[in-house]
Amino acid sequence: MKGDQYINDSKTMNTSTKTSYATSFEKEVAEGLSAYPKYLSSKYFYDAKGDKLFQDIMAMPSYYLTNCEYEIFETHKADIAKSFADTGGFDLIELGAGDGKKTKVLLKELVAQNRAFTYLPIDISQNVLDGLQTSIQNEIPEVVTKPQQGMYFEVLEALTKYNSRKKVIMVLGSNIGNLLHPKAIDFLKKIEQAMGPQDILFMGFDQKKDPKVILDAYNDPEGITAAFNKNILHRINTELDANFEVDAFTHWEVYDPESGTAKSYLISNKEQTVDIDKIDLTIHLTAWESIHTEISQKYDDAIVAWLAKEAGLQISDQYTDAKNYYKNYIFTKQPS
Ligand code: AVI
Repeated sequence: MKGDQYINDSKTMNTSTKTSYATSFEKEVAEGLSAYPKYLSSKYFYDAKGDKLFQDIMAMPSYYLTNCEYEIFETHKADIAKSFADTGGFDLIELGAGDGKKTKVLLKELVAQNRAFTYLPIDISQNVLDGLQTSIQNEIPEVVTKPQQGMYFEVLEALTKYNSRKKVIMVLGSNIGNLLHPKAIDFLKKIEQAMGPQDILFMGFDQKKDPKVILDAYNDPEGITAAFNKNILHRINTELDANFEVDAFTHWEVYDPESGTAKSYLISNKEQTVDIDKIDLTIHLTAWESIHTEISQKYDDAIVAWLAKEAGLQISDQYTDAKNYYKNYIFTKQPS
């Protein structure tokens, strides 16, 4: 989901003269940069360069999330595979499939256990799906893969209508963490609506932990996360004909241990005026003014249980790594 459906609580005071926009990128940039305080949505970090930077982030040891989820898969793969289906066939539907490194651990285990299943990775990018399908064909040719290109919920809805097999829906990487709680509940509700009584949801949630560990994950000294964050300004410059002086911004990360929210900002080191020609917008930033760009929510069991309850789901099982940094939960529908 990668920051999809991100929302911000700021009051919008749109100073753009335009009233209609060709794309949601244009509209959201106009709204966010006309608001006080300014904000942008992290879902716009991801173009080809942003995808590559996110791959680099996932390879950083300080970005512990990837290794923790991988460890959970390696340690608990036999039980996880069993919990997906005792008998009978099922569809394994992954929302936001990525490179499949972690998923392949599970696919191999499902093959080893002789489970009858079809793997349906859903992603917006056909490129990502093509790469994934090729690597699965090469490494685990026994797996029947049916990539589904499109938006999560459109594809999920279509699958719900046309397929009667048991569904296991999988969302990895704590992607839900890029959504504020109300949007996270909407996201879970949409999944719940696509589930039948026997279906399950398998989802990763990064946990609250030593705040220093969390800050380090989003503040690497090499500046990869900073470049990832600033990529949104590059995109606005290139795609919306703007003149942000990107080097005049500093990436700033804060973590609130009470709410469990890590927040990313871009801080303007100096006063600047930026023209965004394609949307007829000129904005002013004072020295040290911030643009809020991303939340990365951290969870505990109580918050996850609350989110699930609000969405009509319940936790039926959970798996964690040795340090309890990260958890994968299994959810089922609440009995009606
Ligand atoms: C995709 N998402 C779960 C990542 C996260 O941890 O919030 C994106 C990210 N932002 C900075 N580093 C990684």
